[in-house]
Amino acid sequence: MTAALTHTAPTIVDVALGDRAYEIVIGRNVLGGLGRRIAALRPGARTAIVTDRTVARHWLEATETSLAEAGIASSRIIVGEGEASKSYAGLEQVCEALISARIERNDLVVALGGGVVGDLAGFAAAVVRRGIDFVQVPTSLLAQVDSSVGGKTGINSPQGKNLVGAFHQPVLVVADTAVLDTLSPRQFRAGYAEVAKYGVLGDEGFFAWLEVNHAGIMAGASAREHAIATSCRAKAAIVSRDERETGDRALLNLGHTFGHALEAATGFSDRLFHGEGVAVGMTLAAEFSVERGLIAADDALRVKRHLAEVGLPTALQDIAGFSQEGLADADALMTLMAQDKKVSRGRLTFILLEAVGKAVIAKDVDGASVRDFVARKLAGAA
Ligand code: GLY
Repeated sequence: MTAALTHTAPTIVDVALGDRAYEIVIGRNVLGGLGRRIAALRPGARTAIVTDRTVARHWLEATETSLAEAGIASSRIIVGEGEASKSYAGLEQVCEALISARIERNDLVVALGGGVVGDLAGFAAAVVRRGIDFVQVPTSLLAQVDSSVGGKTGINSPQGKNLVGAFHQPVLVVADTAVLDTLSPRQFRAGYAEVAKYGVLGDEGFFAWLEVNHAGIMAGASAREHAIATSCRAKAAIVSRDERETGDRALLNLGHTFGHALEAATGFSDRLFHGEGVAVGMTLAAEFSVERGLIAADDALRVKRHLAEVGLPTALQDIAGFSQEGLADADALMTLMAQDKKVSRGRLTFILLEAVGKAVIAKDVDGASVRDFVARKLAGAA
C-alpha cells in the first residue's frame, strides 16, 4: 500500500454514504476540470463561489474560468482571511450574500479555500433555504486531507472552536495538489500534521512511509498525491462507518483535545495554526499514553521525533509567546479543554495510543490526572 503513485490521471476516493455518497478527486491541475464535473453532476445549476482574499488572488479566476467553460454561471463571495471569519458575523455575511445572489436549492455553493472557508461556506450552505448542496475545492493541505471531507461544517463561538455547526456533506471534493505550491512552508507543515495523524492513529505502515518520504510530499512529487489519497481514504473509511461521530470517528480527534485548548489559549491567532496545535496535541496524547501504561516511551518518542523532523512544534514551549497569560497555566488550559466537544458530563474523552498505528478512545479520563500531566509539561518535564 505504500508504493508512490506514478500515473497522472486523478485519483478518485469514494466516500460511501448511501444516497449522499460523493467522490474526492485528487491530482495535479484537476481544478481545470471542476466545471465539467459540476455540469455532469448537477446540470443547469448556478454557483456561488465562497473564498477569501488570498485564495481569490491565486485561484478565483481559474475557478471561474473552469465553471464558465462548462456553461455554469457563478457569483463570488469573498470573506476575510483567517479564523475570525468563522464567526456569527462571517456566517451572516455569507448567508446574506447567497440570498442576494439568488442561490436556490438546486444551485451549488462552491467552497474555494482552506478549512476556514470550507467550514464557513459549508455551514452557510447547510442553513440557507434549509440546505443547499455544496462542493469543496480545498486549497490547503489541511483542508484536502481533513476538513473538506466528512461533512463537518460550522463556526466558532466566543466560548470555543466549532461549537456551532451542522453535519452537511459536500456533493463533490476536488483537491488540486498543484494549488498547494502557493502555501507557505509553515502552512504546508501545519497541514502535514493531519497527514501524519492518519498514520499515528490507524496505519503504522503509512507512518513508516511518511518517515521516509516526507520531503517528497513537501516538494510536490507523486508522493504528495499518494499521501493525500491515503489520508482521504482513511478518513472516508471512518466517516462511512460513523458519519455522526457516535463511535470511531472520534479517533480523528487524536491530538485535538489538547490542540483546541492551545488554539483557544493563543486566541486562534497566527501564534499557533490548527495543524500545529494538533502536532503538539498529538505528541502530548502520545506522552500521556505512556504515563497510563498504554504504549512504550519509544513509540511516543517516534511520533515526536517525526513531527519535529518536519519542523512542527511538539512541546508547549515551542509555541510562540509560551509564557504569556493563559497558555502557561494548567487551570486555564483545563477550563478550555472542558469547553471542547470531547467532554461529556465533565469527564474528558481522550484519544490515546496503544501503538503507533493504533489509537483508542479513552472515555472517562480523570481530569486531575490530566491537570497533573499538563502542569508537569508546562514546567518543562520531558
Ligand atoms: N476533523 C475531524 C473530523 O472530521 O471528524
